[in-house]
Amino acid sequence: MGASLEESNRMKKPALEGGKPVRTKARFIVFGAPAIEEAEIQEVVTSMKTGWLGTGPKVAQFERDFGAYKGSPHAVAVNSGTAALHLSLLAAGLNPHDEVITTPLTFCATVNAILHAGATPVLADVDLITMNLDPREVESKITPKTKAILPVHFAGRPCDKDALCDIAARYNLKIIEDCAHAIETEYRGSKAGTFGDFGCFSFYVTKNVTTGEGGMVLTRREEDAARIKMLALHGMSKDAWQRFSDQGYKHYYVVECGFKYNMMDLQAALGIHQLARVERNWERRRQLWQRYNEAFADLPIGLPAEPQQATRHAYHLYTILVDENKTGITRDGFLDAMTNHNIGVGVHYLSLPEHPYYQRTLGWKSQDFPNALQIGSHTVSLPLSAKLSHADIDDVIESVRRILK
Ligand SMILES: Cc1ncc(COP(=O)(O)O)c(C=O)c1O
Repeated sequence: MGASLEESNRMKKPALEGGKPVRTKARFIVFGAPAIEEAEIQEVVTSMKTGWLGTGPKVAQFERDFGAYKGSPHAVAVNSGTAALHLSLLAAGLNPHDEVITTPLTFCATVNAILHAGATPVLADVDLITMNLDPREVESKITPKTKAILPVHFAGRPCDKDALCDIAARYNLKIIEDCAHAIETEYRGSKAGTFGDFGCFSFYVTKNVTTGEGGMVLTRREEDAARIKMLALHGMSKDAWQRFSDQGYKHYYVVECGFKYNMMDLQAALGIHQLARVERNWERRRQLWQRYNEAFADLPIGLPAEPQQATRHAYHLYTILVDENKTGITRDGFLDAMTNHNIGVGVHYLSLPEHPYYQRTLGWKSQDFPNALQIGSHTVSLPLSAKLSHADIDDVIESVRRILK
């Protein structure tokens, strides 16, 4: 059996910086560690004791709770954010080779979902400050084949909703939002995930609400919700969801070739309690964000832009920009140094055209998306979990300052 996290932290060897050992903290600060509490632990235990592990009443409750939190009439739970994107793209009715415009500064799942839906992803560059899709770039990429825009609310900052919805209305395009970072995000009173036709959420371990793995689709139209639900369970007709209930066995019929994307009650048991604490955890991350801003104000690094007026940032990622010309250390050198200080860090993201698969199959070139390339080669995400203690944050700040001093 592998060592537990605590054990492996204790076993960690002294860190090295420039070949020399540096002060090693007693523990490794895990990037994106989830804030799990007793309520969800007990709920999972209850699920296991009742024996209802698979899709059941807890998934239905989590869907109701999430829909209510976001003010959306329909919420369908699935087993990942990737599944949420894939099924939304299918429900959007795309035909093979239709084009979907998205951002080069995202996780690979965003474009992989477009490819799996049989459509062609087309990239538009991001804005250097907001790191979100630049609406002018989006408009310049529209062709007769364009059928949808897929914005990502990067790091939890809302995309330029007004401009993108205006483009979508003028060119009759669908909007599918990637809200993996954006559970609490709002733009002038509208909640992320309700701007367009579909809102896709992830409950992966590092996300602001986690179910371990999991996802959710929000949609306004009942028929879209029904199709997504059906596609998430092999394409089986509605009754398949209740076929083993105490109401007696129900036949089902396969009406489409679907997928195995359903969420389990075990996952929803986590999600229900995580969601109940979403605002408390948001407030905690907001405070951490402010502390970082104050602690790093005098350093020669780029700090995240302030949230725009009349918007709500979800504070999912705190990303700094490390430029060797100003700091004397490369971005990758900084990542290594942080690891040597026992601080887990992330990179969100290398721009997508830097990956060989997309270069080979779609002919993407990173220099065609200079802003995403620029961000992707300098960005570092610091720990921002609501689980972090004051001492953890002090350690992160001290390490960043020591490395950059
Ligand atoms: C922007 C973005 N899109 C999509 C996904 C995919 O979500 P999941 O891992 O739940 O499939 C992620 C997850 O990390 C993400 O960050």
